[in-house]
Amino acid sequence: MGIEDVIRIVGLLIVAGVATDLGLALASRFRRTAYERDRYDLDLEALEERLMTARVRRIDRERESESWNGIRKFRVARKVDEGGDITSFYFEAHDAKPIPSYQPGQYLTFSLKIPEQKRPEVRCYSLSDKANPYHYRVSIKRVPPPRDVPDAPPGKVSNFMHDNVQEGDIVDCLAPGGDFYLDTAHKGPIVLIAGGIGLTPMVSMLNAVEERGFDRDVWLFYGVRDQNEPVMMDHLGEIARQNTERFHFHMCYSGLEESQLPGDPDITCHPERVSVDLFKRVLPSNNFDYYICGPPPMMDSVTHDLREWGVPDAHVHFESFGPASVSKTPQAEEVAAGAETAFKISFSKSGEEHPWDPAAGNILAFALDKDIDIPSGCRAGNCGTCVSAIKSGEIEYLKPPGQAPDDGSCLTCISVPKSDLVIDA
Ligand SMILES: Cc1cc2nc3c(=O)[nH]c(=O)nc-3n(C[C@H](O)[C@H](O)[C@H](O)COP(=O)(O)OP(=O)(O)OC[C@H]3O[C@@H](n4cnc5c(N)ncnc54)[C@H](O)[C@@H]3O)c2cc1C
Ligand code: FES
Repeated sequence: MGIEDVIRIVGLLIVAGVATDLGLALASRFRRTAYERDRYDLDLEALEERLMTARVRRIDRERESESWNGIRKFRVARKVDEGGDITSFYFEAHDAKPIPSYQPGQYLTFSLKIPEQKRPEVRCYSLSDKANPYHYRVSIKRVPPPRDVPDAPPGKVSNFMHDNVQEGDIVDCLAPGGDFYLDTAHKGPIVLIAGGIGLTPMVSMLNAVEERGFDRDVWLFYGVRDQNEPVMMDHLGEIARQNTERFHFHMCYSGLEESQLPGDPDITCHPERVSVDLFKRVLPSNNFDYYICGPPPMMDSVTHDLREWGVPDAHVHFESFGPASVSKTPQAEEVAAGAETAFKISFSKSGEEHPWDPAAGNILAFALDKDIDIPSGCRAGNCGTCVSAIKSGEIEYLKPPGQAPDDGSCLTCISVPKSDLVIDA
């Protein structure tokens, strides 16, 4: 090998070295750029989410600030038969002033004057649509006598609303309230679980997510007996058709065989009850926030089985439309675990005395369990219906009352005894 060959090889090695360095530098630059681009995208996404959250919270604050205290008059603007013995009522403010926003899942409390009754009847009805500045909508199921007491009078208020309250009528209404709602600023995936009329808050939540362009994954499990029961199916089916990627709609028919199930490509139908067993077969994991509203047996079994499945209580949110399931909720069990057991509660009007059972969760649920009638509406400390005079003893509130009662009385739905107690009920 001559000197020229050596020089050529050295030259080639230098060029290759420079090219490699250049290549490595370019690759590293490219990697950095890709990394920076990814980080930039993530930062942008986080920023967008923060801006959206701030915007949503500002709009909610502005509209919530238009809230009112006590009774406000609302006019029935429209009454729509949804089928399945359910009617939707659209209410507009009688004073024509703006109406406050609400969180999807919250309810309105009505105080209704029923002819020949001394006291108004108070009932809560979940808002069944996303918030809008013009009207509120609630959807009410006509309640028949219980199956085991067919001679009992049918549900007072639900039937009165169906039969007597007409378009143009004025009703008394408390501002939207309730702790069961979807935080629309978050984007985590959710499972909505509805049984029968428990669909109403879920439609409100679903419509709110749709309004935000389906920025999160939603599973809806809607439990009914047969084809005569489901309502708002056109609406739900349309959302399923428009949002196949992020909305997963499951109908559970407890009274149908596989061969009787309705066929709809955008709705998955099951010939069984809503259950955690079904969730295990359908959901990709248990890592969701769960929102549940339905009949007490369904709520009991689903909340219990979600716990068994390892879902933290903080991820399980529920609304109870009737008193029966209140005592069996995980929150009530928590209260029970830390509560005093040695107190007695006397109900002076009914002349009964019972040792306090903390598993009841609150004085109202305890009284109802003993067949002592205390009127109730929201069972969340907002409407004031369950107020009872305290003749002696002390109570403790489980949460601050939305409407503070007069001195010497308490909201039984959110209180527990702090000593022996005599209640005027
Ligand atoms: C937060 C919340 C949200 C709600 N949202 C909705 C909603 O969106 N839609 C909806 O439809 N409902 C909803 N409810 C339920 C609603 O508030 C009422 O409880 C429901 O309409 C029944 O009221 P009612 O006056 O018709 O029945 P009630 O008069 O309270 O009667 C209840 C039951 O007791 C029976 N009964 C009456 N007298 C006797 C007797 N002497 N012996 C035996 N049985 C008797 C009746 O036949 C009926 O079956 C909600 C409840 C809550 C707490
Ligand atoms: S039932 Fe409404 S405050 Fe107790």
